[in-house]
Amino acid sequence: MSRLEHAYIEISLFLLKRFTKTLKFDIYVRRTETDYTKIFRSGDSIDWDRVKIYTDKGIKVFYCTISDYEVYGLYVERVGYELNQKQTPISQAEALEFMKEIVNYTMHEFTVKLMPTERTVEAAANMISSCIDSLNRDPKALIRLLSLMSHQPYLIKHSVAVSMFSVMLAKKAGIESDSNLKIIALGGLLHDVGEGQLDFDPEDVEILDPEQRRMVWRHPELGKQLLDGLKNIRSEVIQIVMQHHEQPNGHGYPNGLRGGEIYYPAKIVAVADSFASMITKRSYRDAFTIERAVICMRENQGKYDRALIEHLHDLFLKKIAA
Ligand SMILES: [Fe+2]
Ligand SMILES: [Fe+2]
Repeated sequence: MSRLEHAYIEISLFLLKRFTKTLKFDIYVRRTETDYTKIFRSGDSIDWDRVKIYTDKGIKVFYCTISDYEVYGLYVERVGYELNQKQTPISQAEALEFMKEIVNYTMHEFTVKLMPTERTVEAAANMISSCIDSLNRDPKALIRLLSLMSHQPYLIKHSVAVSMFSVMLAKKAGIESDSNLKIIALGGLLHDVGEGQLDFDPEDVEILDPEQRRMVWRHPELGKQLLDGLKNIRSEVIQIVMQHHEQPNGHGYPNGLRGGEIYYPAKIVAVADSFASMITKRSYRDAFTIERAVICMRENQGKYDRALIEHLHDLFLKKIAA
């Protein structure tokens, strides 16, 4: 059965611990393959003693309906908001769970929106989860990165989406090795980490003023400086962060590199980055359709690696045309 046909979807009760108000969706446990029982309904607050009884019995996975998943997603995003406000400090376990839920939520969102083959999305999501696990090996890294990225409301979800598209695109381009895919996934996840240090959200400003533009041009370098200070981040990942706004025509930044001078994984992340931005709604414009995004990118000759744009087309449009 396809993921979309499941009427229920797994959620993390752990993240809901910080919310004391009544729930806005129902929570279920699974009895059999097809039988789910409602244990809390919308309007209840979670009775944690009852949850403990379930977990003691070995029932550790909880669900909501697919139609409520968006409401659950708002709770998850709220954790990110609280991270930013620093009202309640976040633990490392919460940070890890939060990232994994953002990955699941983004995966779900794009499966619904883009309809790629599920296995492609799931494989990409698994790759990102393993990157998050490796970041988590340095106790300070995940929280530090998350608290920086949570300064911009769109940044965490955008980063997960870019990472996901980058892995899918890399596979389509024939990159098979796990270690290379992991570098690309992590490069995608961290590509804009330098933006977390800006005092405005560049993703949500239609026209930047000259000072803002100067600041935005610095974000690859700011990201590099940040990652240089963390353990276990490979130099290839930092190279992606540095070069994700370079363009084969030499008009990119920060160094105006041309074609062959740009690290290939950075070209992949560049395509994934623009695509993810275009198909996401902004305060000043609607989301582009997939068709329109690919057409725009095709027309922007020289800005992206051409073959990668064709891979993007095949990945998301071929099936629609068929
Ligand atoms: Fe960027
Ligand atoms: Fe970006």
